[in-house]
Amino acid sequence: MVGHVLAWLWYKLLINMVGAWYLVREQVWDRHRPLPPLPDQGGRTVVMTGGGRGIGEQAVRKLVSSGCHVIVGVRSPDTVRGVFQGLQGVQVLKLDLLDMESVRDFARQVLQLGVPLHVLICNAGIMFGPRRETEEGFEYQLCTNYLGHCLLAHLLLPTMARVEGEVQARIVSVSSCAHHLGSWLDVSDLQLRRGYVPEQAYGNSKVAQLLWAAQLSRVLEERGVGVKVLSLHPGVIYTDLYSSIPGITWIAGLCRAVMKTPGQGGDTLVQAALDPALEASTSPLYLVNSRPASSSSLTRDTRVQGSLWEATCRLLDIPPDQFGL
Ligand SMILES: NC(=O)c1ccc[n+]([C@@H]2O[C@H](COP(=O)([O-])OP(=O)(O)OC[C@H]3O[C@@H](n4cnc5c(N)ncnc54)[C@H](OP(=O)(O)O)[C@@H]3O)[C@@H](O)[C@H]2O)c1
Repeated sequence: MVGHVLAWLWYKLLINMVGAWYLVREQVWDRHRPLPPLPDQGGRTVVMTGGGRGIGEQAVRKLVSSGCHVIVGVRSPDTVRGVFQGLQGVQVLKLDLLDMESVRDFARQVLQLGVPLHVLICNAGIMFGPRRETEEGFEYQLCTNYLGHCLLAHLLLPTMARVEGEVQARIVSVSSCAHHLGSWLDVSDLQLRRGYVPEQAYGNSKVAQLLWAAQLSRVLEERGVGVKVLSLHPGVIYTDLYSSIPGITWIAGLCRAVMKTPGQGGDTLVQAALDPALEASTSPLYLVNSRPASSSSLTRDTRVQGSLWEATCRLLDIPPDQFGL
């Protein structure tokens, strides 16, 4: 009990410290860098999760204006079709990352289109809230932010690996500066059944994204597969992501005034997905404010990367050496 209270206090303190540090940094000495001019994409296909609102919606609009065809995976396709009404180049399909059957259905529909898949942006996410489990026993934040995306990448990778041309296919994982809260990730208790703190669960899901990106890059490189894996922190941006924080709406005006805009957040996704200048850099790449940055030391620990990879494949029922094949 005392241990849980201390953990609760620790993660509350840490999320505020990390958030405040990045917020000041992003508003004072490392301000938003606008998108570089991007070449016309000539109908390249981008698959994005959670593009109906927030930074994802803004990214979809910019991707389409650069000439991409964007397939958006969302929980309420009819509502999101309304959001993009009149915009050419967006296709909206049903996807619920909390349901692995829905992930498989979505992947099946995408693959049935029979088009080359150039970019997968794993953007959808939830933050905080009480502990809940899916029917498969997956904690909600881990499942939405991490496990659902792993399965989706596994299913789309064979097609992405066949992309030809000068520019490699890319997998972009939208992580967060909050991955620092995942520095005590316990791979033997990924669902946090022994004790749940919402901020810890969010941090765990975000650090898992980075660990997985590093391991995936290595696996693909060893297989000689030319798919680039990138991760990023999009900035501290006032969106619906914060809606589970009690009383946040009372200070919404202040939040909008001091945080980055969803459009600025969307830029970081578009840059990671399309910027040709990133082509020369080696995977895995972690971008903060559109520049390569270093992530926490845990994310570079190859032993943890390997054990998370094994645990993830076990949970998703994928033989580890068959991932993405
Ligand atoms: N905002 C920030 O300050 C910030 C900072 C660091 C990282 N990030 C990351 O940026 C990403 C986007 O966040 P945001 O700020 O744009 O948040 P947002 O406005 O709340 O958007 C979240 C998106 O995720 C989708 N989503 C949630 N649960 C889903 C599920 N089960 N299946 C499919 N889609 C689901 C939502 O779709 P529905 O409309 O169906 O709910 C929505 O489109 C997240 O991964 C977040 O962790 C954000």
